[in-house]
Formats: sequence, C-alpha cells, structure tokens
Amino acid sequence: MKPTIAPFPAARPRRMRQSPAIRGLVRENVLSTSDLIWPVFVREGTGVEEPVPSMPGVMRRSVDLIAKAAKEAYDLGIPAICLFPYTEPNLKTEDCAEAWNPDNLSNRAIRAIKDAVPEMAVMTDVALDPYNINGHDGFVVEGEIVNDRTVEALVKMTLAQAEAGADIIGPSDMMDGRIGAMRAALESAGHQRVMILSYAAKYASAFYGPFRDAVGASGALTGDKNTYQMDPANSNEALRMIERDLNEGADMVMIKPGMPYLDICRRTKDTFGVPTYAYQVSGEYAMIQAAVQNGWLDGEKVMMESLMAFKRAGCDGVLTYFAPTVARLLNG
Ligand code: PBG
Repeated sequence: MKPTIAPFPAARPRRMRQSPAIRGLVRENVLSTSDLIWPVFVREGTGVEEPVPSMPGVMRRSVDLIAKAAKEAYDLGIPAICLFPYTEPNLKTEDCAEAWNPDNLSNRAIRAIKDAVPEMAVMTDVALDPYNINGHDGFVVEGEIVNDRTVEALVKMTLAQAEAGADIIGPSDMMDGRIGAMRAALESAGHQRVMILSYAAKYASAFYGPFRDAVGASGALTGDKNTYQMDPANSNEALRMIERDLNEGADMVMIKPGMPYLDICRRTKDTFGVPTYAYQVSGEYAMIQAAVQNGWLDGEKVMMESLMAFKRAGCDGVLTYFAPTVARLLNG
C-alpha cells in the first residue's frame, strides 16, 4: 500500500526534524564500526611508518607496525583489514613470481596480523600489479593483457594467501573466469572456509591515482587498464559482472570506486540482495583531505556524510582509509 501524505498544514515534515531525539527516532540508516574494512599499505623494514604524500594521514607501515595498528583497529571495533603491499622495484618482474612467494611482504603481514589479533578478518588483494614490471594487473604479452595465463597466476597467489591465513580473498584484477578458478582451487586445497569478496564491478577510474603512488605502481604503469576494468559509462554491464561472479562462487561483491558509483551500489543491492561493499578509493579520500587542508570543508562532517551515503545506497559495508578515524568518532 502506498502511504498517503497529508497536505499542508496537516503534514508538517519539519515536525520530524525538531530535535536530536526525534531525528534519531526516524533515522533510516546507521553507520557503525562493524561496517568498516580498513585498507592499509605495508612495506619492508622494522619500526617504519612513512606517510603517503598524496594521501594525507595515510601511512605505509612495516610488518611489525601493521600488526600493532591492526590490533588497535580491532579494539576500536573495526572487524576487517585489507592489505596492500608496497613492493620494492627490484622485486617487480615480467613473470610476477613474487606474487605467489609464500614469504612475500603481503603474506608475512597476513601471518603477523593473525598472530597479533586472530579474531580480526584479514582481506587480501589479488592482482599482479604490485609485482609486474609494467604495472598491469595481468601478464602482458606483445602489448596485450592475456587472460587465462593470468588467471593461473592469480590462483597461485590466492592459495599462497590462504596458506598464510587470509580470511577473505579480494580479487581486484578484473580477468574473466578468475572467481570460478579461485573457488575451485580453494576448495580442493581444503580452504573451504576462505571467503571471496570479488571486486566485481571495478571501473577504469582516474580516482586510483594516489593508490598507485602508495603501492609504488604509478611509475611502472604503461598505458591504461581499459581492456580489463569497466567503462565508467556502463551500468547494466556492472550487474552482469556481479551476477557472473556470484555464479562463480563469490561470497560478497564490491563496487569500486564508491561515491561516483552509488547508483551501481543501489542497483546491486536491489537486484541480488547479497553482501555488497563499496570501496571509497584513494582519490575520493585525497579529494576530501585536500579540501579539508585548505579549510574549505569540515573534515569530520564530510567524512561521516560520505560514508552514510554508502549505507543509504544499500551497502553492507565500506572499505575506507578513514576507518580508524571514523571508529574513534563513532565510539565517542
Ligand atoms: C590494483 C588495485 C587498485 C586499487 C586497489 N587494487 C588500483 C588499480 O586498479 O589500478 C585502488 C584502490 C584505491 O584507489 O584506493 N589491482
């Protein structure tokens, strides 16, 4: 039944906005610490914490300090952390072998976090770009990103991460058929418990710029990612990608970037009703921080409003570099 809205003055919508108590009573969406996944950057060394210039407030941390930061984040109520390695240039090769090295930086960080705070969910990134000499998410053969050989490598990478103790595998590569291949490999290796949060609708976005600085991939990247990441002009395609990944065994799906793609979040939730996440990416974060540094925006308010938008659009959670700051604020 469609609700009828009485005409003015019987209906005075402002009656419902008159005080914090009444506004709280009628509030439709809530952001809580359990909605947050914190993306972090890990680097070599001990006791190292270095700022990422294009992402004010974000650090690259050595493994020991990542473990410590993870514990603090979990204590703030953040349930999950997502790891991205800053790979030393000498480890970037054409065959990307470092990607499935059981002792690579990312896998060492997984183990350190699981040791320090076993209750926290550790999510990984599956894509070749941190390890690829040319900065691409897949192997490049004669100028083309090859799909099936890349998927074989991504499977090896996935298994190494699962062995290291990852709880959630996050394929961000956008190759065809990767989810099915990863799920099958995880099952036959006894990792039935390990989840896949697929970057199902990942757009070829200019908002990833600061991230590529953070992981040291900007210098390496030749060309663009338009033959595997999605065209920002498309939305039906996003739904097909999500359906495909769900059919192949994804447990959860992600839309990325976040704020420019809220329509995709809403359509995904309405169409499939599955656990849906948005990635508030590095460029969205950098934009807000730049305006705040100039005194043009109120940082706390804009941060909270930008995150509430994801809840309103139907997301169950959001990957955000603001996670610890938000959690502190929500905890009062
Ligand atoms: C790489 C990857 C990217 C991001 C997450 N994983 C960048 C890219 O696809 O070039 C971007 C995250 C962000 O911008 O915060 N597979």
